[in-house]
Amino acid sequence: MLVVGARPNFMKAASLVRAIQDDPNFDLALIHTGQHYDDKMSHIFFEELGLPKPDVDLGVGSASHTEQTARVMLALEPEIIARQPNLVIVVGDVNSTLAAGLVASKHNIQLSHIEAGLRSFDRTMPEEINRIVTDALADYLLTPSPDADENLKREGIAPEKIFFVGNVMIDTLLRFKQIALGLETWTRFDLQPRAYSLVTLHRPANVDGAAQLQDLVNALMDIARQMPVVFPIHPRTRANLIRFGLLDALANAGIILTEPLGYLEFQSLMSQARVVLTDSGGIQEETTVLGIHCLTLRENTERPITVTQGTNQLVGLTRARIVAAFNAVLSQDHASPRLPHLWDGHASERIVKILRDAIH
Ligand code: UD1
Repeated sequence: MLVVGARPNFMKAASLVRAIQDDPNFDLALIHTGQHYDDKMSHIFFEELGLPKPDVDLGVGSASHTEQTARVMLALEPEIIARQPNLVIVVGDVNSTLAAGLVASKHNIQLSHIEAGLRSFDRTMPEEINRIVTDALADYLLTPSPDADENLKREGIAPEKIFFVGNVMIDTLLRFKQIALGLETWTRFDLQPRAYSLVTLHRPANVDGAAQLQDLVNALMDIARQMPVVFPIHPRTRANLIRFGLLDALANAGIILTEPLGYLEFQSLMSQARVVLTDSGGIQEETTVLGIHCLTLRENTERPITVTQGTNQLVGLTRARIVAAFNAVLSQDHASPRLPHLWDGHASERIVKILRDAIH
C-alpha cells in the first residue's frame, strides 16, 4: 500500500508506482489521503505523470496540522484493516506521511519510508517532526544521499534498515525533462529563455507572518526592477498576501502572478530560468540537476548535498541578503547540471528490488 497526500508526494510516487507495477511480485493499492485536493495541487499531477486513479481517496482536506494528521489516521485505519497490506510505503515529509506511518506501525505492518534521513535540525519546521517520527517507526529506510544515512545512524537506527538508493524525485524529472522543455512555457508569459526569475514560497515560517512576508515581497519587487519575475502562488501564500494587503503591490511591480502550475509547465519554466528563488525542498534538488542557480529563502536545508554538490545557496530571509545574493548570481555564468551519486533516474528500480524482500 502506497500512501500519498500532498503535492510533493506525487512526483516522487510517479516513478515508484511505475517500477512497482512492472514487478509481478507486487499487488499495489494506491491511497490518496486528500491532504491536497485542488485540481492544480493534486489532480493535474496524476494526469500529467500517468499516476493511476487512487484505489481510495480519503478526502481529509485542510485543517490544523494536528487535526489533519488525526483525520488521515482515522480514515486510513479501516483501509488498513480491510486490505491487510504486507507493507505500507510512505514518501517525503508531509503530514500524510507521518499519519500513515503511525497507522501502519500501530497495526504491526512493515513500513517503508522513501526519502528517509533528511534533517534540517530545525524542529520548528513541521516537516522535521514528520521526518524524525516516520524514520523512528520505519523498517525500511530508503535514503537519497549519504548525509541521510549518517543522520539515521546518529539517531540509533540499525544500519541494516538503511538503504542508500538515490533520489526518486529525480527519476521523474529525468523521465519528463524533454517533454517539459518542449512545452516552452516561458513563451506563454512572453519571456526569453534564461532572462527571468522564477519564485515559489509556501513555508508557514515565511508566509504566515505579515512582517516576514512584507520583507520577502520587498525583495521580489527589488529583483523585478532588474529582471522579469514569475511567481506561481501556493494557496496558503495567496491567502496571506491578500490578508496582509500585499498582492496588489506584487502585481503593480509587474511581477507575473499565476495559479500553481502543473508539473510539466513548472519544470519547463524552471529549466530556462536565470535564477530560481524558493523555500521548497524539492526545487533545491531539481535546480541542481537542471543546472540552474537556486537561492533558497531559508536559514537551513535538509538537503545539504544541493549546496555542497549542487547549484543551491542558502540566503536566509532578509531583503538585503536576498537581493545581494541575486546580484551576485547575475554576475556569474550559468550553472552547470550536477548529478549527486545515484541521482541517475534509477532509484525507484533499486527501491523495488529491496522491497521485494519486505513482502515475502
Ligand atoms: C504541505 C506540506 C509541505 C509541502 C507543501 C507543498 C505538511 C506539514 N506540509 O504544506 O511539506 O511542502 O504541502 O504544497 O504536510 N490548500 C488549498 N488547496 C489544496 C491544499 C491546500 O487551497 O489543495 C490551502 C488550504 O487553505 C490549506 C493551506 O493551503 O489550509 C495549506 O495546506 P496544507 O496541506 O495544510 O499544507 P501546505 O502549506 O500545502
